[in-house]
Amino acid sequence: MVFWNLFNFDEGRFVPDPKQSAEWNRGAYLVEGLAHCEECHTPRNFMQGLKGGDRFAGATQAGWHAFNITPDERSGIGAWSGDELEAYLSSGVAPGRANAAGPMAQVVADSTQYLDHEDLRSIAVYMRSVPAISGGEPRARDRWGQPADDVTALRGTAVNSVSGAQLFVANCAACHAWSGQGVGASAPGAYPSLIHNSAVGARDANNLAMVILHGVSRTTKQADVLMPGFGSQLTDDQIAALSNYVTKQFGDPASTLSAAQVAALRATPQ
Ligand code: HEC
Ligand code: HEC
Repeated sequence: MVFWNLFNFDEGRFVPDPKQSAEWNRGAYLVEGLAHCEECHTPRNFMQGLKGGDRFAGATQAGWHAFNITPDERSGIGAWSGDELEAYLSSGVAPGRANAAGPMAQVVADSTQYLDHEDLRSIAVYMRSVPAISGGEPRARDRWGQPADDVTALRGTAVNSVSGAQLFVANCAACHAWSGQGVGASAPGAYPSLIHNSAVGARDANNLAMVILHGVSRTTKQADVLMPGFGSQLTDDQIAALSNYVTKQFGDPASTLSAAQVAALRATPQ
C-alpha cells in the first residue's frame, strides 16, 4: 500500500544542489527523501514508476485524489501563501482552502505535524520552485461555492425521490450548517465551511464521496478532529444525491457522481 515510513529512508541518496539555497536544499531533502510526497502526488507510468515530467501533478491513491500541488494558480497550490501551506502540513487545515482527510490526514498526523517551522518553511520554498503544471481547471478548486439559504434547501425537497438537499439537512447541517458555512470558523477542530474547500470544489467528487463514506479522523497536537463516516447508514444512491447537492451548491456544479461510481469507491480497500 503506502510506503510511508520516515525511518526507511536511505540518507545516502540525497545529493544537494550547490546552485540552490540551503533552505531549498533542506526542502528538497524533506520532500523527496524523507516525506515521499511524490509517492502519492505524482502520477505513475505504465511500469508503475513515477512520471518524471508530471511531478506533483496529482494522482489517485486508494480512491482518493492526491491533488496537483505544483505552483499552478488554478490547478495546483500556487495561490497558497507559505503560511497556509505550513498550517496545512502542521495541523491539517488551511482555512478557506483545504482540510486533510484520508491518506493526507495520516501524513499530517504521523509525520508533518512534527516538523518545525524551519522545515515547513523549507518545504514551502522548495514546492514553489517545482514546475507548474496545469490540468486546465477553469477556477481553483478552493474558489467555488455559495452559502445556501432555506429556500435553496426547500427547492431540493422532492417528495418521492432521493433528495440531496434533504439528506444534507438531516445528516450534515448539524455540523456544517444549512448554509454550508460550518461552525467555529477557522479554529483547529472546527466544523469547516464547505464553501472554498478543495474536496468540494475539485473537478471530480471522489474525495467528497470518500469523506462521506469514511469520515475524517486526524489527531494532532492542535486538535482531535473527528467527522463520522456515513458509509454504513447511507446507500450509494443517497451518497451520490448528497454529493451532487453539495458540489452543486458549495462546489463545482459540473462535478457529479453516479451511484455506480460511489459503489466503486466504497469497494476500494483503505
Ligand atoms: C499517502 C499519500 C500522500 C502523501 C505521502 C502525501 N500526500 Fe498530500 N494529499 C494526499 C491526498 C489524498 C490529498 C487530498 C486530501 C483531502 O482531500 O482531504 C492530499 C492533499 C494535499 C494538499 C492539499 C491540496 C488541496 O488543494 O487540497 C497539500 C498541500 C499536500 N497534500 C501536500 C503534501 C506534501 C507537501 C506532502 C509531503 C510532505 C504530501 N502531501 C504527501 C495524499 C498524500
Ligand atoms: C459531527 C459533525 C459532522 C457531521 C455530522 C459532518 N461533518 Fe463533515 N466534517 C466534520 C469535521 C470535524 C471535519 C474535519 C475538519 C478538519 O479537517 O479540521 C469535516 C470535514 C468535512 C469535509 C472536508 C473534507 C476535506 O478533505 O477537505 C467535507 C467535504 C465534509 N466534512 C462534508 C460533510 C458532509 C457532506 C456531511 C453529511 C453527510 C458531513 N460532512 C457531516 C464534522 C462533521
